[in-house]
Amino acid sequence: MDPASIDETLVALSGQQYFASRELATGLFLALKMERPLFLEGEPGVGKTELAKAAAGVLGTQMLRLQCYEGLDTASALYEWDYPRQIMALRLAEAAGEQPSNDSLYKSEFLLKRPLLQALMPDPLNPTARRVLLIDEIDRADEPFEAFLLELLSDFQVSIPEYGTVCAERPPLVVMTSNRTREVHDALKRRCLYQWIGYPARDVELQIVAARAPEASVELQARAVAFVHRLRTLDLFKAPGVAETIDWCRALAALSVSELDPQSVQDTLGVLLKYQDDLTRVDAAEIAQCLAAPA
Ligand SMILES: Nc1ncnc2c1ncn2[C@@H]1O[C@H](COP(=O)(O)OP(=O)(O)O)[C@@H](O)[C@H]1O
Ligand SMILES: [Mg+2]
Repeated sequence: MDPASIDETLVALSGQQYFASRELATGLFLALKMERPLFLEGEPGVGKTELAKAAAGVLGTQMLRLQCYEGLDTASALYEWDYPRQIMALRLAEAAGEQPSNDSLYKSEFLLKRPLLQALMPDPLNPTARRVLLIDEIDRADEPFEAFLLELLSDFQVSIPEYGTVCAERPPLVVMTSNRTREVHDALKRRCLYQWIGYPARDVELQIVAARAPEASVELQARAVAFVHRLRTLDLFKAPGVAETIDWCRALAALSVSELDPQSVQDTLGVLLKYQDDLTRVDAAEIAQCLAAPA
């Protein structure tokens, strides 16, 4: 069931181990209420993809995911006919001396339903639930694909020449994400509600780490989060995301580090920073400074 308020949205998301800011919960609440797609931008690893998963959990359905890439076409995104099986059916009919009809060749069984088409049909496991469609990293797809999406998102129906029109009884919740490798077209953005996801506030990131890396002690979690927040103020090529903070806490716990000291930070810095320039930038002096940040 859809949450009835912003507060309920926040609580429902935290039930899925997802800790959102109030702005983001408002965005999701409105997307559900107004039946509009939610467009999320932000640095990698701040929880864009995860929000769609959590929303699906809240609505009691399986998330459908369309991962975008250059050259993505409608056969992979929408539907495709299962030619080998159609030919088999044709042969069988011929062998039995029957004349195969169009209806027997173009039936649902032979329709390979890709995420966009599935999103217009009820969830077989929970037919009353609203579908959740994640269109991930739209900035990686080509512009013609964007135009096609825009059309689909405006009427939530698709006509398949040999089969008929498929129309969603209720628009699915669509979450679209971009890592901003290029600007997404204005028209597409205008269809959507927009949310920028920044790095979480310290108390929120602590909640996330407590839920996702419980093997680290509370003290270690607090120190690690404080350290990462200091790191993010430096001029790095790629600041650590939430995913990195979680990984780092897990790594430290795996190494049985109970207190954050310069040596264990140095040894595990590769979990937080993934670029050589950043690793050189954060030298012993910088580590000492970041460690001095109050927990
Ligand atoms: N707000 C959050 N609450 C809980 N976990 C989060 C949150 N944000 C990020 N994470 C964690 O970080 C990981 C990476 O997030 P992800 O959604 O893949 O990032 P993005 O899609 O923005 O690159 C997730 O698997 C999840 O464990
Ligand atoms: Mg992602």
